[in-house]
This record gives sequence, C-alpha cells and structure tokens, in this order.
Amino acid sequence: MCGIVGYIGKKQAAPVLIGALKRLEYRGYDSAGIAVNSGKKINVVKTKGKLNVLAEKIEGGNAVKGTTAIGHTRWATHGKPSDINAHPHTSGSGRIAVVHNGIIENYIELKDFLIKKGYRFISETDTEVIAHLADFYYKGDLLKMTARLTQTLKGSYALEIISQDKPDEIAAVKKDSPLIIGLGDGENFIASDIPAVLPYTRNVYIIEDYEIALIKREGVALYNTELEHINKEVFYVNWNVSAAEKGGYEHFMIKEIMEEPQAILNTVSQMVGQGMMKIDKIPDKINIVACGSSYNVGVAGKYIIEQIAKIPVEVDTASEYRYRDALLTKNTLVVVISQSGETADTLAALRESKRRGAETLSIVNVIGSTIAREADRVLYTLAGPEISVATTKAYSTQLAAVYMLALSLAKAEGKLSPELEKYYGEELFKLPSLINKILEQKDKIKDLASKYFKAKNVFFIGRGIDYALSLEGALKLKEISYIHSEAYPAGELKHGPISLIEDGTLVVALATQEKLFEKTLNNIKEVKSRGAVVLSIVEEENTQIEECSDDVFYLPKTNKMFTSSLAATILQLFAYYVANLNGNDVDQPRNLAKSVTVE
Ligand code: F6R
Repeated sequence: MCGIVGYIGKKQAAPVLIGALKRLEYRGYDSAGIAVNSGKKINVVKTKGKLNVLAEKIEGGNAVKGTTAIGHTRWATHGKPSDINAHPHTSGSGRIAVVHNGIIENYIELKDFLIKKGYRFISETDTEVIAHLADFYYKGDLLKMTARLTQTLKGSYALEIISQDKPDEIAAVKKDSPLIIGLGDGENFIASDIPAVLPYTRNVYIIEDYEIALIKREGVALYNTELEHINKEVFYVNWNVSAAEKGGYEHFMIKEIMEEPQAILNTVSQMVGQGMMKIDKIPDKINIVACGSSYNVGVAGKYIIEQIAKIPVEVDTASEYRYRDALLTKNTLVVVISQSGETADTLAALRESKRRGAETLSIVNVIGSTIAREADRVLYTLAGPEISVATTKAYSTQLAAVYMLALSLAKAEGKLSPELEKYYGEELFKLPSLINKILEQKDKIKDLASKYFKAKNVFFIGRGIDYALSLEGALKLKEISYIHSEAYPAGELKHGPISLIEDGTLVVALATQEKLFEKTLNNIKEVKSRGAVVLSIVEEENTQIEECSDDVFYLPKTNKMFTSSLAATILQLFAYYVANLNGNDVDQPRNLAKSVTVE
C-alpha cells in the first residue's frame, strides 16, 4: 500500500527520489520521507502530509546531499499518519535506515525480543522492528543481514535497507509486496512499480519473493536466501513514459477516461480477429473473485458469461472468498480480476484456489505483476499505467476482457458460429468510436454534475447487467466525491430502501436492457412518485423515459451486452465532475490507495 524507491549512482539522490515518489504517490500519500547516505552519515527527513510537504521541506531534494538513498510514501496501517510514524525508520543511533511496504505479522513478538535486547521504540509502526532487527543482525555485511531478516520476518514486505558504513550499497528484498529494480548506466533504481523508474530506464528486474538484491552503482547482484547467486532475465518496458504523466489534463482521472477508446481497442485487438483465446478444458462452473471495481466487473461478468457461454458463474469479493471454502466442481475455473495484480486479498484467493487444485485465469493490467505471474493463464487488459486511484480505463478494459472470455468460452463449446463471432467482433471494434461519442458529450455530463453535485444521498438502480453497472456508478461516486451512494437492483427497492427516498433524493436509473426496460420504467415511476429526482441512462430510442425523469442521457445503440461499456464511461465522467465541483482531490481521495497490498 506504500511506495518505496531507492537510488544509487552519480547524481544527487534526493531530487531523483522526489520525482520517483511522485510517480508512486498513488500507492499512498499520508506521509513521506527519505534517508540519504552522505558518505559520513545517514540523513533522514520525513514528514506527515503529501509528498509536496516533504519536497518543500528539502527544497525539491537539493537540501540533502548524497548519491545513495531510499524513500517512501505511506498509506498508514500501523499507527496514524505522523512525522514519527513516517518512513524511513532507523536504528543503532541512525546507522541503519529502512523503508518498507507491507505488514509484519509477528512484529509484537519481535518488538518484545528487541526491547529485551535494549532497543527503544519511538513509533507505532510494525516497520520499526525491521530497523532494529536489521541493526541487531548487522555485522558489516548487508547481504547476510538481509538474508537473516527473511528467516525471521513473517508477513509481507518489500524492503530497502542502507547502512551508514556502506555508502555504496543498498540491500533489497521482497515477499508478497511488489519490487522492481531499474538498471541504468553507472546508476540503479529501486521501486515498488515500474512508472517510478521510467524516466531513467526501461530495463528492469522484476523481483520475486525471497530474492535478495545487492544494488551498487556499477551493477545489481541477486541472491536466494542461501546467498547463492541467481541469474534473472531483464524485462524491457515498452510503454511510453508519457502514459504515466498528465499530458495537459487537470487530473489523471480525466486523462485516463479520455484514453478509454484506445485502451479498449488495444485490449480487444489482441483477441478479436485472432481466433479468440484457446480454451483446452471447458469449465463446468466459473468462480470470479476480485475486489472493489474489479469485483463489479465480475458481477457484470456473471451476466455476460452466463448469457453468451451458458456456464454458471459465481462472483465473490476476494476477502470473503479466501475464507469461505467455496465449492469447487471437477472443472471449476477460477477467474481473478485485478488492475494492479498485487491486491493482497485477490492474490490470497488465487493461491488458495490453486492450492485446492482449481484451474486459474487472471485478468490483469500490470504486466509482470504477482497475480499475472502466479495464475495458470493471464489475459492482459492493455490499459497502460493507471495512476488515478479511482479506476476508470482499467475497469473499462476489464469489461472488454470479460466479453472476450465469454466469447472464447462459447467458441470452445461450439456455441459461437463463425457469423456470430464476426458479428460480436464487429460490435466490439465499434466500441471505441461509440465511447468517443460519449466523450464528445462530456460537457453535457459536466452540466448534469453541476446540477447535482450538492446531493447528500444518491441511489443507483438497474436490472440485470445494469445493476452491475449501478454498483460501479455508486462506488465511483462515493470514493471520490464522499457523497453517500448505494446501488440496488431496481426491483429490490420496494423491499426496504425505498423508505429512504424523499423529496429531492437523486436516483440514477440505468435502463439500457430492452427486455427489462418496462420493468425498470415502473421502478423509476415508483421513486419519482415519492419525490426522487431522476437521472436516467437509456438507449437512444427510449424517449418515453422522459415523462418520469428529470434528465436523460441517451446511449448510442450497440449489442445489449456491450451497452455497459458506454454506461460505464458516463458514470465515471459524472463521478469525476461531481468530485471536482466539490473541490476534492480527485486523483488521491482520502483514506485510499491504488494498490491494496494488505489484507
Ligand atoms: C475503485 C478501485 C478499487 C479497486 C480495488 C481492486 O475505483 O480502484 O476498488 O478496484 O482496490 O484493485 P485491483 O483491481 O488492483 O485488484
């Protein structure tokens, strides 16, 4: 949940780290800090607040001199955001400094042990035990000390450690938290994620669990926990650096929404027209497991796969699935969906499924991420780096990936005739231009947002796949605008929630499914007659909706399964403008982080 970075080279390290941390701020942003080895001592500067508070304090990095350094941007787990709880943490009168992303599960036991050894704790964090333990183990060899740490620490960690007497070395290791090393010429970089190092290098090592790295200016050596040398392939990153920058937009979120047509085109092109995904074994049941917006894609996936491939689908949030001993049939396929590919609950659910012998498929955006590597098969969403904490283009490409999975399954079962495959393919390829039509109307959505941005409670309702989209509309709105919003199947309102409808309550009604249109229309009338203000989203010919709506947004016509992709963009734009009009930090909403690597 936090971001860690490191630099060793000939440049002044602190300004490099501030830039790198900026590109990782999506991972956490309640405090930040750096530790720079000046050659004589380790200088630590850390502070509560966003990175710019730290950057100002150290004049963009120019105030702290040294060419070897580690840095951190935090999303608090143990201990509130504060100067003391911020990383790096130090030990041994400041001779060792550590940054950490993850959670140490046995920290209480280790803390007791270290207190008995005379160590004094000053923070509320679990990470401080690592700093003291590192000091306790350190006998002049960073590598040996790091290997010992891996034997003692339980939980998840991506760690960087420096020692005052080793100004030419950084040690790093990971378990269940991401870590990459960027390889430069006479300089090397460490980070939680690739975008942090992209301005400097495209050659990276993707570090696996329990691989220990000793990083020097002139090279990087990798070892296993027995300290045997290991060889690793260099991964070449082929994205554009600008993909991780704002490119003239006010926020990453709006930039990323505007990138949806291209992202969907890239995702769809890898399969449609290429004969779809090869499926060797047709599952008799599919369990989709994910968190947050990715879970909402799973709910849509249930409708899509059951409709197109006629295979029963169960959908679970990963935090529930991992503990519920879900029933696996002889041929259950477990599909995990994750933008980051690092979400702790989703990863645990994947591992549990594999342990129980299920076939697994992951739908992942971050190439080379842990979930992508560990699943039996991976279907990449080619959305490119997504920086805004609230997902948009990744969600939209996940939906596209689910359409393709459904079509691939139908084809493998012999249920997709060549004509039908051609028809669906053509419809999918039309999606980018249809989404462009929505994007061209973004000012209309902004006008709607300016009418409703003061709403206190919002209901999103729909039937069938529109219900799945309602879930995402409500999540998007609440997470960035802080307006209470709920999603309900339209037919469920009368079983309780309708008592919350009063004069002026905003109801966003999705009625894009022809077969269910009349039914949803009746539900809209029910809320309207109880004082609700209704914003409806329907296909273009359904003008009768106007009699019971205050505002209507019309969607261009496409196959009923794919209207969801169009509705998604509208809901994302609506949430974006509402949050922006409320003056919120759209890209970094309070209490959230992009990559949730804790349980
Ligand atoms: C909401 C959002 C989160 C993520 C969730 C899962 O906008 O981004 O709800 O969808 O944390 O993350 P991934 O997809 O990375 O596993």
